[in-house]
Amino acid sequence: MEKQNSKTNTDTITRRKTILSGIQPSGKLTIGHLSGALDNWVKLQDEYNCFYMIADLHAITVRQVPALLRSQTLETVAIYLACGIDPKKSTLFVQSHVAEHSQLAWVLNCFTGMGECSKMTQFKDKSKTHKENINVGLFSYPTLMAADILLYQADLVPVGEDQKQHLELSRNLAQRFNHYYSNTFKIPEPYIPKIGARIMSLQEPTKKMSKSDENERNIIFIDDTREQIINKVKRSVTDSGSEIKMAADKPGISNLMTLYNIATGKNFTEIESEFSGKGYGDFKLAVGEAVADYIQPIREKFIEYRNDKKMLNDILKEGASNAHFVASRTLSKVYKKIGLYSLDK
Ligand code: TYM
Repeated sequence: MEKQNSKTNTDTITRRKTILSGIQPSGKLTIGHLSGALDNWVKLQDEYNCFYMIADLHAITVRQVPALLRSQTLETVAIYLACGIDPKKSTLFVQSHVAEHSQLAWVLNCFTGMGECSKMTQFKDKSKTHKENINVGLFSYPTLMAADILLYQADLVPVGEDQKQHLELSRNLAQRFNHYYSNTFKIPEPYIPKIGARIMSLQEPTKKMSKSDENERNIIFIDDTREQIINKVKRSVTDSGSEIKMAADKPGISNLMTLYNIATGKNFTEIESEFSGKGYGDFKLAVGEAVADYIQPIREKFIEYRNDKKMLNDILKEGASNAHFVASRTLSKVYKKIGLYSLDK
């Protein structure tokens, strides 16, 4: 009887569609990571077979302080858990613990044109901000990301707006490989939220909120205190005029309305009528408080989990083993198809 139950469970799991996504452990996570990625990850984990990764190999395309990279890797796992990712439902693992990621990335490099990587917006941006270190890893970053996704035969990839171009390349590489050889990879679809796919900087609302921004007043971090959040929102840059409405010429207010939507679930029409006739001051205070209420339980759980190194390590060990099991099957197929000699045969 027991056996039959476990077989039924396995069948259910194997029939589910697959998700893969990841976040770089290159700094403290922000409210943008929540709305662009983690909120959806949590929602999708009941329906899909999910692989959620810490993209540490991607992080080293920019110089990292080794001790910090190690602690941020563990902290990122603690944040995944604090947001509600359940290791019983989803596989959590560190990219560098599963060697197949680097191995498939090399193969995919050999199928990618120089022009395809050089036109990537993120490569162009990072080449400007890290002029002293424009390395080959930064250039071929999207082929490693394609390997991450294609190894798991992912159907869906929940990400924020900025990753759309990388996803497009992953799809092209999968189609190209399938065309040269035979059907090998699933063609992944991006899953980008309608609201919150691009949270903007608080002081410069025409640019993305980014954890690597030197000005911390631009960013709401997941571990910010209530006071910090309320103060940052209070000091955020707003637009001319006094109306609270979503509009292309009101990037500051539109960004705050998006944050308010994420924190409260109220839609834009409801928000506009709630604040009709009220000033920016009242609105900013309400947004600050709502965002603080939204972040607070996540922050509290994060603080609790981040010091439980044994629990985090146990989750990552099991995750690496599950991930390796799936990834190695895909890599063997790929090696065979491209003609690499195997000692097993
Ligand atoms: P990363 O680490 O820059 O960001 C992780 C996720 O958070 C989203 N995000 C945002 N969404 C909305 N507004 C923002 N301000 C904001 N900032 C970040 C990102 O869109 C992303 O979904 N290359 C990836 C990591 C990666 C990956 C993968 C993702 C590596 N391999 C495979 C998916 C599948 C990256 O640098 O994300």
